[in-house]
Amino acid sequence: MTDIEKNANAITLLKKDHQKVKQAFAKYEDLGPHAYVGKKKLANEICAELTLHTQLEEEILYPAFRENLSDEKALVNEAKVEHDSAKVLIKEIQQMEADEELFDAKVKVLSEYIDHHVKEEENEMFPLMQKSDVDLVLLGEKLTQRKQQLNKT
Ligand SMILES: [Fe+2]
Ligand SMILES: [Fe+2]
Repeated sequence: MTDIEKNANAITLLKKDHQKVKQAFAKYEDLGPHAYVGKKKLANEICAELTLHTQLEEEILYPAFRENLSDEKALVNEAKVEHDSAKVLIKEIQQMEADEELFDAKVKVLSEYIDHHVKEEENEMFPLMQKSDVDLVLLGEKLTQRKQQLNKT
């Protein structure tokens, strides 16, 4: 087992996803205003990545948080509401063409939502989990397994 695999607990895995999406949003910004094919393709990739990520968090991370940090429920409830708002935008983006008037704006607002949400997860939720009794290595294994399963379907 490499050092990277040994350290692949739930938090490092999720942070890696966050980084990947952040880079994809930055790449989107760099595409020219008329690069419709490229923008649609990249937006679809971002939406797929976020859909998978939010599902994994809701199935595996958030329940573990609720169970072990019952005094901090407000934080996880807020995170769930943020996921739900993001999902509305994701669905709209998936149904739009890149040359539509509001397409860039939807992607931009989604990136701002996600940026805010990721900061709360990384600065508030994850540190609380690290201090709790949650087995982050086990959770990491569950996340990896479920991700592989969902990627196959
Ligand atoms: Fe999240
Ligand atoms: Fe996340």
